[in-house]
Amino acid sequence: MTAAVILAAGQGTRMRSKRVKVLHEVAGLPMIEHVLRTVAALPLDETVVVVGAQKEAVAAVVGGRATMVEQPGVLGTGDAVRRALDALGPSTRRVLVLYGDCPLVPVDLLRSLLDAPSDDAATLVTAELADPTGYGRVVRDADGRLRAIVEEREADAATRAIREVNTGIGVWDRGWLERVLPDLAPHGQEVYLTDAVAALVAAGAPVGTVAARDVERVLGINTRAELARAEATARRDVLARLMAGGVTVVDPATTYVDVGVEVGPDTVLYPMTFLRGRTVVGEGAVIGPMTTVVDSHVGDHAVVVQSVVEGARIGPHCSVGPMSHLRPGSYLDRDVHLGNFVEVKNSRLGLGTKAGHHCYLGDATIGHHVNIGAGTVIVNYDGVAKHPTYIGDEAFIGCNANLVAPVEIGASAYVAAGSTVTHNVPAEALAIARGRQENKPNWVRTRRERVSGPRD
Ligand code: UD1
Ligand code: CA
Repeated sequence: MTAAVILAAGQGTRMRSKRVKVLHEVAGLPMIEHVLRTVAALPLDETVVVVGAQKEAVAAVVGGRATMVEQPGVLGTGDAVRRALDALGPSTRRVLVLYGDCPLVPVDLLRSLLDAPSDDAATLVTAELADPTGYGRVVRDADGRLRAIVEEREADAATRAIREVNTGIGVWDRGWLERVLPDLAPHGQEVYLTDAVAALVAAGAPVGTVAARDVERVLGINTRAELARAEATARRDVLARLMAGGVTVVDPATTYVDVGVEVGPDTVLYPMTFLRGRTVVGEGAVIGPMTTVVDSHVGDHAVVVQSVVEGARIGPHCSVGPMSHLRPGSYLDRDVHLGNFVEVKNSRLGLGTKAGHHCYLGDATIGHHVNIGAGTVIVNYDGVAKHPTYIGDEAFIGCNANLVAPVEIGASAYVAAGSTVTHNVPAEALAIARGRQENKPNWVRTRRERVSGPRD
């Protein structure tokens, strides 16, 4: 039986953050979430996550997917693994160790690590780096046999010059770990897992290495700069997946798509587009330029230009923008058109309904083929509570109307431009709710003569 042990107890001091490192996000998911998803794709019998700093917040992400073991303070990776071993089932013989700050490890690499027939007490993944600064160095003897892993702070100049580094990813024999871990000498208050290598070698246990081919996916993240590097790698992967599936990404360098987002074939993503969270975009849609879609569903053949869409559903063949804002709870049926500067919140707009210019539509249920004139405002808030508005099918709301909620506009009714509607409007009626226009003939000339006397 094989277990995964994920180390996630450290604070991540080098991030200079109030947030614990493994909760920092890469392509829209916390690092620890990436690691958990990778583990879920592997044939493992149990998973243990070692938590410490901000353990409640980390545990909230892990949920029921793993056994949580607490490490009381930063006592080192060796101490963390030792505590995890205590929590493993009795028949677990092998342990895949993963670091929570290493989010992009390819599933294939781990699968081959687990599948390779091996009598090694440990098989570790190493990487050859042009700049190995900060990583544990892989020290070998003249015959190339692994002798030890030496952390940078303990390394002399010759060791620091070694460019082969420890990734922290490895499969360990549980029995051997239980034998060597308790005797490792601490460095300050920390026990290093990496010291187990020299201990195994000294005990005559075979330790193997596997060189990672895809180096940028096996590097741990300690700093904000490394976080940005991982973000770029993850983003490239996501865009490559979308393009392979038939999506046109006009400019991958300025298109930002989170890991879980789905986009249908023949959709075009224009530059400066952000698709985030649980967003799904259908086929043949056009998104962007300069559009953000968060946790939303965009239907087939919809067009969303220079707009912000959050927690909304946009039906097929809709057009939105430029400069519109769909807020949570917005639902656009098929063929809805929202033009410039239209804000919608918690509202349903029926088939073929149009709001072309400068509107606020909040807490409204709007039927099909309704025309909403420029400048219409649904006055949904009285300073204390939000109230609903209903607009029937094929109603016509003239420009610059205020619909003061709660209010109901009947089907096919008309609201005259400039009206402030405070009472329900029956179906097919015309509501005019504004001061009547009065023209005062010659008013300008009369005033001028009063002020400056008659002109010659
Ligand atoms: C570690 C390795 C180093 C390797 C590098 C690869 C050790 C001693 N060093 O160094 O050889 O090159 O990773 O990225 O293992 N953690 C705990 N409890 C602790 C300390 C750390 O759970 O007491 C967790 C952290 O949350 C983190 C992971 O272990 O997710 C690695 O810890 P970190 O301090 O980042 O180790 P590195 O200095 O990067
Ligand atoms: Ca690290």
